[in-house]
Amino acid sequence: MSQVSRRTLILTDDMDRGERLVRNLGADETVQLHDLYGDDAPLAGAALIISDVSALTSESVRRLRHALAIARGPDTPFLALIHGSLDRGEIQATALGATRVLPASAANAQLLNVVAGLRKEGGAARPPIRGDLHNQAAAAREVFATIFRADGPPNVATLESGATLVNQAIRETKIRDWLAVVASFDDNTHRHCLSVGGLAADFARTLGLNETDSRYLVKGALLHDIGKAKIARAILNKPAPLTPEERREMDRHPVIGHAMLINGNYDPLTLAVVRSHHEYLDGSGYPDGLRGQEIPDLVRLITISDIFAALIEARPYKAPKPAREAYAILKAMGPKLDGDLVRAFAAVASACDMPRHATA
Ligand SMILES: [Fe+2]
Ligand SMILES: [Fe+2]
Repeated sequence: MSQVSRRTLILTDDMDRGERLVRNLGADETVQLHDLYGDDAPLAGAALIISDVSALTSESVRRLRHALAIARGPDTPFLALIHGSLDRGEIQATALGATRVLPASAANAQLLNVVAGLRKEGGAARPPIRGDLHNQAAAAREVFATIFRADGPPNVATLESGATLVNQAIRETKIRDWLAVVASFDDNTHRHCLSVGGLAADFARTLGLNETDSRYLVKGALLHDIGKAKIARAILNKPAPLTPEERREMDRHPVIGHAMLINGNYDPLTLAVVRSHHEYLDGSGYPDGLRGQEIPDLVRLITISDIFAALIEARPYKAPKPAREAYAILKAMGPKLDGDLVRAFAAVASACDMPRHATA
């Protein structure tokens, strides 16, 4: 355990320069070098994170933010080494939540001094948790936007990193805070799918699901409305209720989404989430009018999270319902939903019910 807690993670855009930095830090350090442009996600649990990125372009900042959201724990200090203009770099590094900045050209003795100090102080100088939540939500949104922009089946690794971000955020923060941050997003579908993802992650926690099942559920939540990627934006973002004709078009999204994923690397249960999340146990849902046992548990969990999310979301033509009222509507749906799961969802719903965060 002490081995893990001493690990330093270096985020770099140049592995050769990163190797030099590893050598400069000395042999007694356990250092993990992470290529920002590589395929793997960095490991969580480092005692210290150092970024060494030559140019903070919008792409490298996006990648840094993404890596930090995955790897940085609540008490992990983050040292940003700045190349080029210190002023500009310092602003960017502060926006990323850096605990300290240092010119990359600093003498090695100074670097070792700062590193030793950060290890001693831990994350004491870190910005408050709220800033981290915004970073995590922004990173999750970027991942989701990539998934949703996809013409065909989204990349499985991208979806995995989205699930990691949402699961980690919900572990470290309260669902109501996640929902408040996500509610500020300007795109209906980003807002909705990231809300459903957060609710699903919290539902998984409430049900005591293990990490694998929880990730599986969150991945389903992020994907469930993927078919909306092919629905006209004028309908998706219409600032008024849909006409019957527009509603019919919108209701094609489960079938469209299923067709998008069928040739990708997706398992039957995930395909069922996408196709069947608007089915009801009494057979009154769509697109296939499935009943009871024909609807798998995973789909039932997503359906409950999905309906609840839609009720508590604001739309230009509809005020958000308070969580308590939204839960009462879920309960009143009776035989359409799985009663045991709706009862279990009570804990998630009540954790969302904090009026003081309603406008955060
Ligand atoms: Fe849907
Ligand atoms: Fe949905």
